[in-house]
Amino acid sequence: MPLKPSHIVKYLDQYVIGQTDAKQILAVAVYSHFKKIARSKADGMRMAKSNVLLIGGSGTGKTLTCETLSTLLGVPFVTAEATSLAHTRYVNEEIEAVLERLADKAGGDVAKAGNGIVFIDEIDKLKAPEGRQQGSSGESVQHALLKIMEGAQVKLRNGQYMDTTNILFICGGAFVGLDEIIASQTHGYGFIATQRGDNQRILDRLNTRVKPTDLFTFGLIPEFTGRLPIIARFHDLTREMMIRIMTEPRNSLYNQFRGIFEDEGVELTVDTRVFEQIAELAIEYKTGARSLRGIFEELITPILYRVPDEPDITSVHVTSLFSEPAYVRKAAPVNAPLAR
Ligand SMILES: Nc1ncnc2c1ncn2[C@@H]1O[C@H](COP(=O)(O)OP(=O)(O)O)[C@@H](O)[C@H]1O
Ligand SMILES: [Mg+2]
Repeated sequence: MPLKPSHIVKYLDQYVIGQTDAKQILAVAVYSHFKKIARSKADGMRMAKSNVLLIGGSGTGKTLTCETLSTLLGVPFVTAEATSLAHTRYVNEEIEAVLERLADKAGGDVAKAGNGIVFIDEIDKLKAPEGRQQGSSGESVQHALLKIMEGAQVKLRNGQYMDTTNILFICGGAFVGLDEIIASQTHGYGFIATQRGDNQRILDRLNTRVKPTDLFTFGLIPEFTGRLPIIARFHDLTREMMIRIMTEPRNSLYNQFRGIFEDEGVELTVDTRVFEQIAELAIEYKTGARSLRGIFEELITPILYRVPDEPDITSVHVTSLFSEPAYVRKAAPVNAPLAR
């Protein structure tokens, strides 16, 4: 029995903040992917595989979501970058290397690896360069990927064959400029005639939907876009989402560092104001949630340098990114036993 989509979303919610639509789309895609595998095992009928395309800016949670998903499913997971595939003359060898890494993750069990997840990032960089529609290296990488995404027997260097039929391929990319393409086509053709009583939310969704033709206009080859029928969008993170990312997930930055200080017998408290300041800086840096850790660690480093040397410190309170934290000390005499 595959996990129900709602269970998958619930699990993802513990680690991935926001991105509700994308989580649901992915959950359903994974659910039906494993249903199809089970059915084809039962009645021998092969159903076309639906690989997934994740569109969204850097640091919005695409890789994190796929990684979390693979943990939940207990299947091996690897990531690869389309750009590094495009920069080699030996595309097929590079792809084999990716599948070999997947087999390694499965402890050398090729059959288990055959049920894994492969995330290929920066797929948008494979677009044909302006004015050179054919024969680009990006295009040949798309053709090579197409083959394994459809399902192929790939010979690994150790002589074993890996069947890629049941591997779920998830592609990702920022696709800068895609929104302009979608907007121009939607308004140009007005492809949906609206009627009173139509649900505006559904209409909005249809109108902002990425169509295979949009990806084609963007520069991907039609065969390749045809292999990615499921498209989920990751939204840019708002300040509020970033604050939640730093504080909410079980393994959030705040919880991680509170744990480290707790080991020293020290309580760390960081005011909401500080997380707001960090989020604002991160938005300026335009790398999504990626710069949060760096800024937070910069704040914590001088504190963490000091605390182990001064065992009378019982708590540290940070009220602003731009002022010294407050150290609270034990009133007890110096020769009191260490709080450890
Ligand atoms: N929606 C999110 N929820 C929780 N953490 C996030 C989210 N988006 C990004 N992050 C944090 O930022 C880091 C980079 O995110 P990642 O998933 O690698 O982004 P990308 O979309 O570029 O693949 C992650 O390790 C995670 O800590
Ligand atoms: Mg990524």
